[in-house]
Amino acid sequence: MSIIDEVKQKTDIIEIISQYTKLTKAGKNLKGLCPFHSEKHGSFFIYPEQQTWHCFGACNTGGDVFSFLMKQQNIGFGDSLRLLAEKAGIPVPSNVDHREDKEKYEKLYQINLAAAQYFYNIFLNTASGEKAKIYATKRGLIEKSIIDFQLGYSLNSRDALKIYLLEKGYFDSELIQAGVLTKGEMLDSHDIFRNRLMFPILDIKGKFCGFGARAFEEGQPKYINSPQTPIFDKSGSLYGINLAASFIRKLDLAILVEGYMDVIIAHQSGFPNVVASMGTAITEKQINTLKKLTRNLILAMDSDTAGEESMLRCVSYENLIGNEIRVVILPAGKDPDDVIRSDKDTWQKLIEQAIPVIDYTFDIITSKLDLNIDSNRILAANKLLEIIGKITDPVRQGLYFHKLSVLTNINENNLLSASKNIKDKYNIRDSKNSEGKVISTCIHPVFSQPLEEYCLALLLQFPKLRSFKNKLEAEYFENSENREIFIALSHNDDLNLIKNSLDYTIWEYLDKLINKEVPSDKLEEKMAVCTLRLHEKCLRSLELKREVIFATEAASKGSIAGLTKLEEQGIEGSAQLREVFSKKSTGGLHGGDSNEGRKYTDKQKNREI
Ligand code: UTP
Ligand code: MN
Repeated sequence: MSIIDEVKQKTDIIEIISQYTKLTKAGKNLKGLCPFHSEKHGSFFIYPEQQTWHCFGACNTGGDVFSFLMKQQNIGFGDSLRLLAEKAGIPVPSNVDHREDKEKYEKLYQINLAAAQYFYNIFLNTASGEKAKIYATKRGLIEKSIIDFQLGYSLNSRDALKIYLLEKGYFDSELIQAGVLTKGEMLDSHDIFRNRLMFPILDIKGKFCGFGARAFEEGQPKYINSPQTPIFDKSGSLYGINLAASFIRKLDLAILVEGYMDVIIAHQSGFPNVVASMGTAITEKQINTLKKLTRNLILAMDSDTAGEESMLRCVSYENLIGNEIRVVILPAGKDPDDVIRSDKDTWQKLIEQAIPVIDYTFDIITSKLDLNIDSNRILAANKLLEIIGKITDPVRQGLYFHKLSVLTNINENNLLSASKNIKDKYNIRDSKNSEGKVISTCIHPVFSQPLEEYCLALLLQFPKLRSFKNKLEAEYFENSENREIFIALSHNDDLNLIKNSLDYTIWEYLDKLINKEVPSDKLEEKMAVCTLRLHEKCLRSLELKREVIFATEAASKGSIAGLTKLEEQGIEGSAQLREVFSKKSTGGLHGGDSNEGRKYTDKQKNREI
């Protein structure tokens, strides 16, 4: 079984989603307020039998447990897989297994290095770089930092870097693969980074693998970053790790912040063991890198909701790192850069006063509730029990059971049996794998999607069929791995580029599709049928999901105000189905530039229950 299926089998979609929204029963299914948009009436449903979810409201989208986590945590497929695998105690082979490929990509490192040198030289030695110099000074960066971090400036030009690197003998395709140029459908390739302060990103071995780039003015994305390439995966990288690694080891402590500026200001102010996650989501890959250097980790994310949530999620990484993780609470609205620049000692004190992430979780959950009210004490107990249940060290776990008992004034024995009930509810029996990790033993059905696979196999194996891409939508693919491959296919033509734009955990599955036996005659016709059937399957599945909800709502006498509108949507869906059927019967299978699928999705997207 592939690692993807193994993870699906050991993952309960209800358990995962219930961490983000309160779910109530709706017949065989569950219903809740959509965690992705604000709404008063629940239009978010989970279908446990298929292990899928769907939001009929503003999102009007759905999928499996991977796509849920990807959307919820703003992470890629690979990270969602690693998070769930970790939870289920399934070891994920590391990227190092693909070292051979890594060596093949030596050229991509060279290109990133050459680009970094180019930006650095413009910054330091040209009149155009003056603007960036002034900005860096304004942000409090000293010259040593510019040199240590090799900051640069990208000219306000469509192809200055392109021309420079082509002259050095690199090919256009290599520059695209290295992530310094981008190419639209019809247009020439051009520089990705223009008129920005450049932060080269180096891996732990000091190799240049990508860039972060800051705009000087408002009104455009503040930072843009290199795209995912064979040598760069932003969500798995740590900014500053090349300089910080030896200090993290020596000081036996790593401090994790969010931003580029936070890292540089920390280093120049005498805190060299600081690295950045480059955004809020902290991933297992990042924790694994740090774990090799130290078991002591302090998080100092910005004091906003995103930073708060990101620190809360790190509770689950404690077992991975085998130690408690601590959290720095920054003054409201300040990031580490602000704090350090205004007073180094305050920062030093904040680090010393860092509290365990579980205590932080206690504080966050209880600060929002009045614990004089019984129902709030029960709510707090239930939320925190789930977290305490995950602590593997029995002594620490005991300590927090006690703490919770004092806090909620609920007898400790009652808390212990409630905690056991939570586990029983999900039918999880703890057992340990060979590494002593807790693994869950519940089994969930895994649904393969033969039609999706057949369609992708055709597209992958026969470039002449690629024009059919335009008739398909990512949403037609219910399984996330298929959806990922379809998206990769829509952006790239070359099989190597397709593979490299995907997380390595999908490579094995991709190879299976590339080698899948498919007919080689009447290809266009078969592809056309396949395209329509996929669209039909998507509409039917949506229709079925809606019907189930109608039935339940009708049984409960239509308790939500959205029922009528649900009906309206149902009618719409049927009309779409009819359209597909009529095409099939009139033989309208071939050619044309019909984008009915797109129309369908756009219309749906604009609607809210
Ligand atoms: P912040 O928005 O907190 O920015 O994002 P910052 O680091 O404090 O930047 P300054 O001080 O305003 O210059 C934190 C980090 O998240 C990533 C970057 O790595 C950034 O440093 N980020 C943020 C992006 O990749 N893209 C964005 O659009 C924003
Ligand atoms: Mn900042």
